[in-house]
Amino acid sequence: MYPLSVVLSLLVAASVASRKFPPGFKFGAATSSYQVEGAWNVSDKSPSIWDTFTHDNPDLIVDRSNGDVACDSYHLWETDIAVAKELGLHFYRFSISWPRLLPNGHSNYVSEDGKRYYNNLINGLIANGIEPVVTLYHWDLPQKLQDLGGWTNPDLASWFEDYAEVAFSLFGDRVKTWLTFNEPVSFCDIAYEAGKTAPGITLPGIGNYICAKVVMLAHARAYRLYDTKFRLRYRGKVGLTNQLLWCEPKNSDEVENTELMRNAMALYSYPIYSKTGGWPPSVEKTIAEKSKKEGYSRSRLPSFTQEEIEFIKGTYDFFGLNYYTSRLVETAKPGEKLSWLPLKGSTDLGLALTADPSWKEGNAWLISYPPGIRRLLLWLKQKFGDIEFKIMENGYSTSEPVMYDDERVNYYKDHLEQVLLAINEDKVFVTAYTAWSLLDNYEWNSGYTSRFGLVNVDFNDPMRRRTPRASANYYAAVIRSHSLDLNNH
Ligand code: NOJ
Repeated sequence: MYPLSVVLSLLVAASVASRKFPPGFKFGAATSSYQVEGAWNVSDKSPSIWDTFTHDNPDLIVDRSNGDVACDSYHLWETDIAVAKELGLHFYRFSISWPRLLPNGHSNYVSEDGKRYYNNLINGLIANGIEPVVTLYHWDLPQKLQDLGGWTNPDLASWFEDYAEVAFSLFGDRVKTWLTFNEPVSFCDIAYEAGKTAPGITLPGIGNYICAKVVMLAHARAYRLYDTKFRLRYRGKVGLTNQLLWCEPKNSDEVENTELMRNAMALYSYPIYSKTGGWPPSVEKTIAEKSKKEGYSRSRLPSFTQEEIEFIKGTYDFFGLNYYTSRLVETAKPGEKLSWLPLKGSTDLGLALTADPSWKEGNAWLISYPPGIRRLLLWLKQKFGDIEFKIMENGYSTSEPVMYDDERVNYYKDHLEQVLLAINEDKVFVTAYTAWSLLDNYEWNSGYTSRFGLVNVDFNDPMRRRTPRASANYYAAVIRSHSLDLNNH
């Protein structure tokens, strides 16, 4: 028998150990080009679809604002690096603005100014010991390519590959983690469903599915290009990142529907990560049957050829996950109005989404349900195998620029706790966690009214002063101690 004090200290030691992140686990924070850069028309940059959309449709933005200046990171990138360094970030995830690097959209002309800007940022980060993690597409398509049909034009897959080739060639010697796409669900489903985000085209049930297919092929082309031309030389990793909600059944009758909804959420994962490839079968079947009933001669969700299935399957080095919130699933009432945003459900599936009233309140759509991230990671592991997961976004917004943002601190604390449980208890191979966002920035239709930053940005100040919030201090402490047990370090 050990004395009680020994037992107690062993227990404490065990719990401390389990609150540590694995060695080599990396912490970062993210932003995206349109949301932070500003400088929308400097040098030879051409307009993106978000420049056009916000200029033409101020009514669709809560504060009628746009990203013309945003955080002015185009000029203040050194300050951003200093802020990232102060937090102790292992990596900084940012995106390249396609029209800044390739003003024609095509790779026949590369902007010197674009090259210089991203080289400066990448070199500055590395000089400060921060790894650059780069997203190629975070929604700001060159308007010139939208004029050619955007993501509903199948040729876009090849033009994206050309763009990727330029980026890999220019920066691949220093960038070792690439994301081809950020959240196809947002720029395919949400965009084409309601036309309330760029490119402002409403083609529900059609445009989104064509977009989905083109994007899957574009991703695979970029991945395979990296494989054949760059991997040996640069030894980096390429993936994409998807936003998934965790779904639970509203009652015991909805178990099957919930699985259908989970698979629908994984529309952009299944073709890449599943053993069989192709669309999730249950979702493909549901949309095909519905299309038939509606009189279409073929499914609105375009099918893949066997060759395309093989081409897309396995094009990953890791699974990128953006997680914010969860929902309950139930059969929709006849005539019920459903839409992806604000996460009300799917018309095609006839399934409605609601939040459980017992879940912690959040803002409009972002209801905090920390266990969701753990359950989702486990579901993904069971579905797609014991692959590497990188959490590429997780975070919380407030409508006011509060500096003592305890709600955000709690959100991070609770979610990190669940990530640790996924790693330690469920043995999910998670290697990275990314806070969204490093800075307050342009939150799409919410403009500057929704604050996601660990660091406050004063948008009334011409210098866009950056000031770390309480959550920045909390996150820095987690990173320093590599643990959630902050008192022991
Ligand atoms: C996902 C997107 O990637 C990002 O652009 C956005 O700001 C955050 N979610 C918060 O809504």
